[in-house]
Amino acid sequence: MEIVVSGIRPTGNLHLGNYFGAVKNFLRLQDEYKCFFFIANWHSLTTHPHPGDVTNNVRKILAEYLACGIDPAKAAIYVQSDVKEVLELYLFLNMNAYLGELQRVTSFKEKARKQPENVNAGLLTYPTLMAADILIHKAHKVPVGKDQEQNMEMARKFARRFNTIYGVELFPEPESYSFGGDAVKVPGLDGSGKMGKSEGNAIYLIDDAATIRKKVMKAVTDSGPTEPNSVKPEPIENLFKMLQIVSSPDTYDYFNEKYNTCQVRYGDLKKQLAEDIINFTHPIRERILDFAANTDYMDKVAKEGADKARESALHTIREVREVIGFK
Ligand code: TYM
Repeated sequence: MEIVVSGIRPTGNLHLGNYFGAVKNFLRLQDEYKCFFFIANWHSLTTHPHPGDVTNNVRKILAEYLACGIDPAKAAIYVQSDVKEVLELYLFLNMNAYLGELQRVTSFKEKARKQPENVNAGLLTYPTLMAADILIHKAHKVPVGKDQEQNMEMARKFARRFNTIYGVELFPEPESYSFGGDAVKVPGLDGSGKMGKSEGNAIYLIDDAATIRKKVMKAVTDSGPTEPNSVKPEPIENLFKMLQIVSSPDTYDYFNEKYNTCQVRYGDLKKQLAEDIINFTHPIRERILDFAANTDYMDKVAKEGADKARESALHTIREVREVIGFK
C-alpha cells in the first residue's frame, strides 16, 4: 500500500492556507492510504526557539488536526520529536547534502533575510530534516501546498542521491500531492502573496465570527473596474480566489458577473465572503474548543501515533544502517 506523510510546524494556529493547502487532502487520503501526519516541532525551532512556543503550540495543532477530521483510527498522528529515528536519518542525509544547494533554497534565503541575527545551521538544513521526515516512512505521496515545492524537490533529490550512492532502491521518490492535480496557494487578503502566519495576514480556523468579519472587511481592494471584462489586479484576484475556495460556484459566478459588467460592490462581496468563511470554520472552531479541553484524550492520541510512527521508522532506519555499513 502507498504511504502518505505530511507535517505542519506548530508556530501558531492553523489557518485557511494550512487547511486548503494541506489538511483537506489529509482527510481525503486517510481513507485509502497508510498515513502519517505529524507536528513538526523540531522544524519550528529554526525560527521559534522558545519553550513556550513549542509546548503550547503542539497541543493546539493536535486539537486542530482532530477537529478538522483527521481520524487517529485511520492515520498515525504524532509529534515529530517523539520519533528520534528521524534524527539519525537527518544526520545520514546531511552527509550527502551540499552547502551550495542548501544555500540556494529560496525559503532559506528569505528567512536569512528576515532573521539576520539567527542564520542557524538548522535553517540551512531545513530541507534535509524535511526529507528525513518523509523518507523515514518511505513515503510516496506528500500532501502540501504550493510553497513547499522546492523542499519537495530537495527530498526527491536526497532520495535519489542516497539510492545512487549506495546502489540500492531503498527510497521511493516522494511526490507532492493535491487532490485535483495542482498544488494550492491560498492568497492573503492584504493585497499580495500567500496567506501565512509570519505574513500576519492569516484567517485562523479558531477565529471567532467578529474577528473573521473584521479581517475580511479590511481586505485590500481598488476603486473598481471601469472597462467590462477587465483583468483583475492581484488584490482583487485574491479576493475572487478566496471566493472560489470557500463559497459556492453560484456565489463566485454572481460576483464575477458583477465585476465583468463593472457593477461590483466590494463591500457586498466581502460581507458574503466573511459569512461563507464563518459557515465553514465555525463547526471546526467548536470542535477545536472541545478537543482542547480534553488533554487526556490528546495525550493518548499522540502516544498511539508515536508508537505507530516509531515502528515504521525503526524498520527503515535499520535498513539504512545496514546499507551504510553500520551493522
Ligand atoms: P508549514 O507549517 O509552513 O505549513 C503547513 C502546510 O500548510 C501549507 N500552507 C499553504 N498552502 C496553501 N496556501 C497557503 N497560503 C499556505 N500556507 C501554508 C504548506 O504548504 C504546508 O503543506 N516544511 C513544512 C512542514 C514539514 C513537512 C515535513 C511537510 C516539515 N516536515 C514533511 C511535509 C512533509 C512547513 O513548513 O509547513
